[in-house]
Amino acid sequence: MSQTFTLAHLSDVHLAPVIGFSMAHWRVKRLLGYINWHRKRKGVHLRPVVDRLVADLATQRPDHIAVTGDLVNLGLPREQAAALEWLACVGPPDHVTVVPGNHDIYVRMRRDPGTARWQSYMQSNADGAGYGESGHPFPFVRRFGQIALVGVNSAIPTLPVLARGHVGREQLQRLGRVLDALGGAGLVRIVLIHYPPLPGQSAASRKLLDAEAMQQVLSEHGAELVLHGHNHTNTIAFCSSRGASIPVVGIASASLGRRYHDEPLGRYNLYRVTVDGGAAKVDLTARGLADPDGPVVELERRTIEAPTAHQG
Ligand SMILES: [Fe+2]
Ligand SMILES: [Fe+2]
Repeated sequence: MSQTFTLAHLSDVHLAPVIGFSMAHWRVKRLLGYINWHRKRKGVHLRPVVDRLVADLATQRPDHIAVTGDLVNLGLPREQAAALEWLACVGPPDHVTVVPGNHDIYVRMRRDPGTARWQSYMQSNADGAGYGESGHPFPFVRRFGQIALVGVNSAIPTLPVLARGHVGREQLQRLGRVLDALGGAGLVRIVLIHYPPLPGQSAASRKLLDAEAMQQVLSEHGAELVLHGHNHTNTIAFCSSRGASIPVVGIASASLGRRYHDEPLGRYNLYRVTVDGGAAKVDLTARGLADPDGPVVELERRTIEAPTAHQG
C-alpha cells in the first residue's frame, strides 16, 4: 500500500515581542538574554516574517506541520502563553507537532507550568500512543498511517551564557525502544528534536551534551529522517545506521528578516514523503525569503538521498 504525506517543518521562530520580564521572573540568565535580545536579535527576528511564512505554508496544504523549538526567547510565562496563541493560528494540535528548544526551557520554572502550556501539541496521538511509553512525556509518537513522528526533548535549563542541550540516558533508552517498535511495524520514522543530534554539529557552548549517545541510538535503532533547528542554518548531515544513512536536516530560523552574521533568511521546508512497499522517498521543497524585502518564494527543490559509498 502506498502513501504520500507532506510534512512542513519550521523552527526557531523566536516570537517577538519579549513580554512579561519583571522582578518576579528575574534571573541573571534572563537579564543577559534580555540585553542580548535588545542589542542583537530584536532587529532581525521579525514577527511579520513568521506570519508571511505561515500564510504561505497554509497555501501549500501540508498534511502536518512540525515546529522544532525556540518558539520564544527567555522562557517567560507570558511569552509561552502568547506562543500558544500563535500555535493556534498555525493549526490545531492534531495538525501541528511541537518539541521544545533551549529558549523555551530557559530557566527552572518552579511552580509555573512552563512549556506544559503547549502539551496538546507535544503528546502522542491515539494511533501513536501504543508505541510510546506511558508515564513519560518524551519521546511521544504521532502516527499518521505509515508515517510516525517521534518527538524528543533535548532542552534543559542551563547556567547563564551556556545554551547546551541534553536528552538524558533514560529518554535515550526509551527512544531506542520506540524506534525499534516503530521500525518493527514497518513505519517511516521521522524524529523531531531541537538540537542538532550528531557530535560536532554545534559549538561547545551550545551543543547537545550527549550527542555521541544520541548518534549511537539512531545508529543502532534506526530512523528514516531527523529534523532539527537550533543552529539557524540549513544543513544536511547523515548518520550511518546498519548499512543505511539517516538524513539529518537542520533549518534556518523562520523569523529572520534581516541579515545576521551567516544566518540565512527565514524559511520553511516541505517534505513530501512517498511510502511504497516499505521503501520511502523524500522530496524536499524549501520556501522562504530570498531577499529581506522580497516575497516568499521557492528557494530549493531536491530529493534527499543518502550519499552512495565510494567505490574503489
Ligand atoms: Fe534558536
Ligand atoms: Fe536553540
